[in-house]
Order: sequence, then structure tokens, then C-alpha cells
Amino acid sequence: MKIKSFPEYEQAYKKSVEQPEQFWKEIADNFLWRKKWDKILSWNFTEPKIEWFKGAKLNITENCLDRHLETMGDKPAIIWEPNDPTEDHRVLTYKQLYDKVCQFANVLKNNGAKKGDRICIYMPMVPELAIAVLACARLGAIHSVVFGGFSAQSIADRILDAECNIVITTDGGVRGDKKIPMKTVIDDALVRCPSVQKVIVLTHTRTPVSMIKGRDVWWEDEIKKIETQGKKEFIAEEMDAEDMLFILYTSGSTGKPKGVVHTCGGYMVYAGYTFTNAFQYEPGEVYFCTADIGWITGHSYIVYGPLSQGATTVMFEGVPTWPDAGRFWDIVDKYKVNIFYTAPTAIRSLMSFGDEPLNGKDLSSLTKLGSVGEPLNEEAWHWFDERIGKKKCPIVDTWWQTETGGFMISPIANVTPLKPGYATLPLPGVQPVLVDEKGEEIQGNGVSGNLCIKFPWPGMLRTTYGDHERCRTTYFATYKDLYFTGDGCLRDEDGYYRITGRVDDVLNVSGHRIGTAEVENAINMHSSVVESAVVGYPHDIKGQGVYAFVVCPNQHGDPELARKDIMMTVSRIIGAIAKPDKIQFVTGLPKTRSGKIMRRILRKIAEGDTSNLGDISTLLDPGVVEDIKAGAL
Ligand code: WTA
Repeated sequence: MKIKSFPEYEQAYKKSVEQPEQFWKEIADNFLWRKKWDKILSWNFTEPKIEWFKGAKLNITENCLDRHLETMGDKPAIIWEPNDPTEDHRVLTYKQLYDKVCQFANVLKNNGAKKGDRICIYMPMVPELAIAVLACARLGAIHSVVFGGFSAQSIADRILDAECNIVITTDGGVRGDKKIPMKTVIDDALVRCPSVQKVIVLTHTRTPVSMIKGRDVWWEDEIKKIETQGKKEFIAEEMDAEDMLFILYTSGSTGKPKGVVHTCGGYMVYAGYTFTNAFQYEPGEVYFCTADIGWITGHSYIVYGPLSQGATTVMFEGVPTWPDAGRFWDIVDKYKVNIFYTAPTAIRSLMSFGDEPLNGKDLSSLTKLGSVGEPLNEEAWHWFDERIGKKKCPIVDTWWQTETGGFMISPIANVTPLKPGYATLPLPGVQPVLVDEKGEEIQGNGVSGNLCIKFPWPGMLRTTYGDHERCRTTYFATYKDLYFTGDGCLRDEDGYYRITGRVDDVLNVSGHRIGTAEVENAINMHSSVVESAVVGYPHDIKGQGVYAFVVCPNQHGDPELARKDIMMTVSRIIGAIAKPDKIQFVTGLPKTRSGKIMRRILRKIAEGDTSNLGDISTLLDPGVVEDIKAGAL
């Protein structure tokens, strides 16, 4: 599967466009199928309907575990580094991971789980999170992992939307010096979730929890039952390539987060192929992705991609700056990490600490670096290249999305010539097009437009859970016969792609996708708020910060306290990750006569660029703009 030179890339790319089915068939042949497909691809982007490898039978965990046992059973699959560096790390070999996944799949079965059930997983970054994910997949249950930073309310929304019947969680979690009472958050969420029959709770922080009789069980007790029953194996459920593998909720420009659905076969092939190629993974290499499994990056490039390729993947529970800003470099040093994959926000944050945290850290094991989540600005690119990679490691700037399942536009390490700030070229199988406002394709180089994809790839989303129409309108209705990414993009004279950021009302804050409408809804829940408008503004570390303009006429007390109350409301409704960085109280919002908020103006003010606000004559009350300008933060 591995592309070894640039001419090979060009050849593979050409083939993937001219004979896509043959191209992907040859890739898919590298995986373990119980039965091969009846048809490689059928598709249209109007409904949309996308099917890859339909009729093929497989279980993704046989690809991630069973098939490695004979040759690599004793090789580390997961190396786990705890939050607290003074505590013991853990290593799970492929054989050990296999045993634990089988064991926990039996636990799930004992607790009533069956193929097709939806199971919510809300856990910190412990090995049992990966085990839970894989156990669901082995049993054919559809996992819906919810990131640990989300509130009870957000979890409840996700559980309700997918009608989950089981929740897997821990007593608590730790990130740096912060403790998260995970089980308590789940208890709060479940007040609204009658579909949940069982909660399986792993002991982790020994935080006191309330265990409800008949509903809540301890992970460890359930494992003991399996052991006394003498069950060791769990025969993997046979899945169709197009059966659902997981749901992952992500924010869009309108409404509540939607459940992006990925299926077993295509996703597996795509995650494995892109991992192997972009990082040029070689047997024995230690790979460290700093993401959380609560996001797509963790799904595809901590769990499924690396494990399907027999890689050693490092899982880290903590944060980059605790106990100090040398934490990542200690981990690289400790495990002799070869491939290090992180996010621009982390790079910028660590950069701000200067060189001191790097002193005495041996980073000589590194051979390849990666970045994901937002544009990697040139300053951060060069720092990463010089200080971390010592100018000998290619930087693989991977552009992709929850919806794409895997890398789309990305260099192939040591194959694709790099350009700082560029995600470079599409991987084989990916056919990007740039379109103008009218939806016309913009041909040639040295152009920019909205980024769309015109042909299906195996890892793409199939639907949004429970609402196919939403999938159609969000991604396939903006431009006819194209998948619309929501990103703006530039294609330079060499045909290289540079992602310029979202063109819709989605913010990218520290690499986390946040819908402005969602934050506004949360702010508006606060009792004294009449209305609000949220926009992004450039932020040195986070990439984008959240700027909220809030109409709060009866707010007469301390504005600082009022701000804190609003922050608290957003934390409660969505989670701490969506808290506004700036809250400006305003008397009114700039609206057109038809009542539409003119965000363009607010964005300019938030960016601190008030010199040219453009045409404001269509505003109902142009006067509010002056007030807002005067009070800008
Ligand atoms: C942005 C994360 C520039 C982009 C895998 C996209 C990027 C959104 C890059 C998806 C990159 C991701 N360069 N921008 N290398 N990678 N993005 O769904 O705006 O959490 O649409 O998936 O992140 O975020 P998501």
C-alpha cells in the first residue's frame, strides 16, 4: 500500500482518478475480509447515497487485533502515559489488548449489548477507552464517544439523539491539576435519558460516586464475572462493510451538533491506508498522537488507523503544559517516539514558553512530525521544524474533517515536497475542486475558493444519524454534485493547497469545532440575556477566540460578575471548551431591516479592524454600530 516516491504518488493519484474502483480494490485487498464485496462502489451525491465494498463481510477488530497476533502478539500496541508522570505507565501488547477487548466485549454482552445498539462512551484518555471502543466494534455495537470536556446537557443531547442503551464511563478523570467528576456528569445527563439501561463504570480516580442499583455496575466486577465464567474469546460479530461502525457528534453552522456516521469497511480501509502512507509508518516505530479519542483524530489515528497497521500507538492522559511545558518532550524522550502528531494550538502554546522546556530532552528519535486541526501558520511551522524536528523531520500537515474519516489533503512523509503553511496535495482517491460563490468550478492554479470534493472516497460520512436530510442539506445541497467542506482554500501556482479556514459559522478554537449558533443558544439561556451574537477573532494561541456580543438590558450590577455568570451558563449547556474569551455588553445588534444580524460587521469589530466596515446603509439602526465600536474589547 505504501507509496515510496513522488513519481509513485503521481502514478497512484492518476490511477485513483481514472480507475477509482480498481485502485481501491487493490488497497482493500490488503485487509482481512471474511467475504469480499459484491460491488466496490455505488454512489450519487444527490440523495446522497454512498456505498463502498457493499456485501463484504468483516469485523474491523479482526483487522486491528486478530490478524497481528501470530507475528506481532508480543509487540506493544498501546503505550499509555498517565497524567501524573510519577505514576506508572502501562504497555499493552497486541495479545494483551486482544484479550482485554474480548473480555470487555463479553462484559457488554452480559449487560445486554447486541449488534446495532448505540453505546455512549464518556471516558478520559485511559487504555480502557480504546478497549471499550474496540469491544463495541467487536460486538457490532455502534459507539458514540463523547469528549470528556462536554457538559451533562451536551451528553444527554447526544445520548437522546442516538437512543443509546448503555453508557461506559469512569468514576473520574484528571487533566493536569484538574479533576473531572465523570460519573457525576453522567448521572446528571441520565436524568433526561430513559433509554439508558446500564452504566458501566471503570475505577480510575477513586472519586466517590453514587451507583444506582440495577443500572450502574463496576467495570472490574463485570470483568471478574467473565473470568469466573471462564470466557476468554469473543467471536467477532460479522459486519457488512456498510454497517455502521460509529457515530461522532460534531458542530455545524446551525442547530445542535449532528451525529456523523461512519461505516465499517470503507472507514477501515481509508484510515489504514492514509495512516500508513502519510506517516510512512515502518514496523517497530513508536507513534504518538496527542489528540483525545473523543475527537475524530483519536478515532482514526490513535485507534483504528495505527492498530489496523500493527503500529505502536502512545496514548497520553494529560495536557501539554502540566506539570510543565516539557511534558510532550519528556514523553518523546521516554518512549523514543519516532512519529509525533499534534495540533497547531499546542505548538503555538509550547512555543510561547521558549527553549527552556526543551533543555535536556533527547528528541533525536523523532523522524516524522504531523499537524492537524487548523492551519499551521508559518511561524509555528518553522519552530516545529527547527526546535522539535531539528530540520530533519518532514512536517505532515494533514487537512481533513470528522466527516472525511481520514486525511484528505496531506503530504506523504519524505515523498511530497513541503511548503510551510500548506497541506500540499490531495492524497490518492481525493478529488478536490475550488468553487466560486455561484458554485462554478474555478479551474487552474493561483486561485482560491470554497473547497469541495467531487468524487467519493471510502472514508467519507454516509449520513447524519437519524436525519439523512440534514446530511444532504449540510454537505451536498450547497453545490450540485459536490461534497462541500465548509472550508476556504487557496491553490497556488504549483497546485499546492492551503486551507484558509472555515467560511461558514463554525469556529475553530484550539482545533475544536464550535458552532456560533450553539454558543449563542447557550448564552441566550441565561436569564438576563435578551439576545447575542458570537463571532471568532484571531487568537495567538488558540487560532480563533470566541467573541460574544450580548444584549443584557437589565444588567446593572458588576459587569465582571455578569460575564462570569454567562461563562458558567455556557459551561453548563455545552462545556468549558465553548466559553467565550470576550463578552461585550451591547445595547443592540446590527440588524438588517429583515432582522438578520450582520455578522460581517461584528467580525470586523472583533478583529479590531473598524476602519472599513463596508456598507452599513442597509442596517435598521446604523447607530448601534458606533456604540459597539466604542465599547469593543
Ligand atoms: C480544520 C479535525 C487547516 C478545517 C480532523 C476543517 C484544518 C476542520 C486542518 C475539521 C489543517 C483540520 N489545516 N485546517 N491541516 N485540519 N482543519 O471535524 O477547518 O474536528 O474543516 O476534524 O478543522 O475539524 P474536525
